[in-house]
Amino acid sequence: MTDGVASEVLLAEETDCIENSSIPCHGGLSRRGFLKTLGATGIAAATPSLAHSLPLAQEGPAQAAEAAHTVSIHMKVNGVEHALQVEPRTVLLDALRENLNLPGTKKGCDHGQCGACTVHVNGRRVNSCLSLAVMHQGDEITTIEGLEQNGELHPMQAAFLEHDAFQCGYCTPGQIMSATALLKEPVGEDDHAVRESMSGNICRCGAYQHILAAVQSVRKQA
Ligand code: FES
Ligand code: FES
Repeated sequence: MTDGVASEVLLAEETDCIENSSIPCHGGLSRRGFLKTLGATGIAAATPSLAHSLPLAQEGPAQAAEAAHTVSIHMKVNGVEHALQVEPRTVLLDALRENLNLPGTKKGCDHGQCGACTVHVNGRRVNSCLSLAVMHQGDEITTIEGLEQNGELHPMQAAFLEHDAFQCGYCTPGQIMSATALLKEPVGEDDHAVRESMSGNICRCGAYQHILAAVQSVRKQA
């Protein structure tokens, strides 16, 4: 019997013994026993995260040392004040995605080359992967989640939809954040000026023509 056939037979037997409690599994493990084992494993897997959420005094020395190396910062994100505890090396992108659970801002290259992580800091576009969170004490940050107002898409978001300005969509939050910032910048009226201004935002799907059309349509409305 080949390894592939053997493992298929093994899998079929395991499935049978799980579905039919009267058939003993390998090692004599019944369905009930299997579920008990699974439950115990699940509890064991959950235990570390429970421990991690205990108050500092009950954590081990490693966690206490980690906490001692974090910094408190305050920032307003999408109109809401937040107090964060971050490591000094944490970049704004990770603080937004991991600490504040705002995954709309994307991590592409993580090296300032693709623009997927673009957010607004005090109204200006910034590559959040290149900026340490601790540098933004008291700053006002806007992410793609904060663009809509009262349930209405920002005109740039609506234009991206209308002009099919994306394919996979991974670059799209960064494109839209750049494009909305561009509306307040001294950018020339022609397509070349827009292309130049948006050149920090890379689209691997090559949706550039549609992105340009979306941006120019909003600029014309404005
Ligand atoms: S992820 Fe920040 S520029 Fe690419
Ligand atoms: S839509 Fe896929 S990378 Fe831009």
